[in-house]
Amino acid sequence: MQAFYSPTRIIAGDGAVAGAAGLIQKFGKTALLVTGKASARVSGALDDVIRVLKANGQDYALFDRVGPNPSVETVFAGAAFSIEHKCDFCIGIGGGSPLDAAKAIAAFAAETPKKEDVFLHIPKIALRLVAIPTTAGTGSEVTQYAILTNDQEETKTSIASDALFPALALLDPRYTVGLSVETTVNTAIDALSHAAEGMLSVKAGEITDALAIDALGLISSRFSALRAGEFTEDDRRALLLAACLAGQVIANTGTTAVHALGYSLTYDRHIDHGRANGLVMGAFLRAVEAKSKRSVARILRAMRLKSTEDFCVLLEDLFGKVSLTDGEVSKYARKAAKTKNMKNLIVSLNEEELSGILTASRAGGAYGKVW
Ligand SMILES: [Fe+2]
Repeated sequence: MQAFYSPTRIIAGDGAVAGAAGLIQKFGKTALLVTGKASARVSGALDDVIRVLKANGQDYALFDRVGPNPSVETVFAGAAFSIEHKCDFCIGIGGGSPLDAAKAIAAFAAETPKKEDVFLHIPKIALRLVAIPTTAGTGSEVTQYAILTNDQEETKTSIASDALFPALALLDPRYTVGLSVETTVNTAIDALSHAAEGMLSVKAGEITDALAIDALGLISSRFSALRAGEFTEDDRRALLLAACLAGQVIANTGTTAVHALGYSLTYDRHIDHGRANGLVMGAFLRAVEAKSKRSVARILRAMRLKSTEDFCVLLEDLFGKVSLTDGEVSKYARKAAKTKNMKNLIVSLNEEELSGILTASRAGGAYGKVW
């Protein structure tokens, strides 16, 4: 038996925002626009949204203070801004950080928790949300997760609630055309990790596997473009679609050890989320393969790769390795072992095995020798 839930209406293709003008008009009177400083503007998405709102006769207030890996303080400031401007719906525009912040702001504007309870509080209501991705990776536009920096635990922690599912996701691949090679590669590998981890989740089933296999196929068909750092419009379309499919996967399966380990690399070492995942994913697949060869074989087949070794070579080409001290290895493994993500994984990996993954991923570590 499998339960699958994906309540977000998706409009995809060139001109998606203009095409959704009629839908946006029904959302409310005053939109809270949540963005970072650059990508919403540079991509042209913010201009498109403002044009539609003006034509619809809707007001808006712009909260453009979301940085990478948004903090609880930023989200509270956004919620207060929304209340002050009497916004009755929210439009998040940007990569994973603005979209995740938009979700938390939409929830906290509707019902503000105590600051110390943020990661314990499960939002029950939120302003209706439109999500417009300008990167192809996080899948946040179709998930119920808002991932925020958790300074108390020194990591990133997700708030999850069905109230956080965007009502509408608008996917226009033209917004991703100007992304740097680095961002394109990092976000594509984040989406790849969502699909692969989704297939290795205890909550996986036929529906999520179908989506994950399709996402892996779409991304792997662009491996040569990712290696070369050159992307056609068709590559952009494929990567944006893959990220959305993989987002629907993790909305139902959750993520596992790659994300659990990657969060520490991001919090402690300021390594971009997608790159952090890419640095550990090769050794992770090897570790899982040692316990469940068939599961990993299905993932490799979907990516049209012959072996985990080929996968490790690809990731090392894209990301290299990471320098980690022995102390960092034990600290990050200890933290990851305690996360709820680890309970999702179809095989069990203990703290020592998680240390092994990090050791194999660091400079001087060899994927082949550890497992
Ligand atoms: Fe991710």
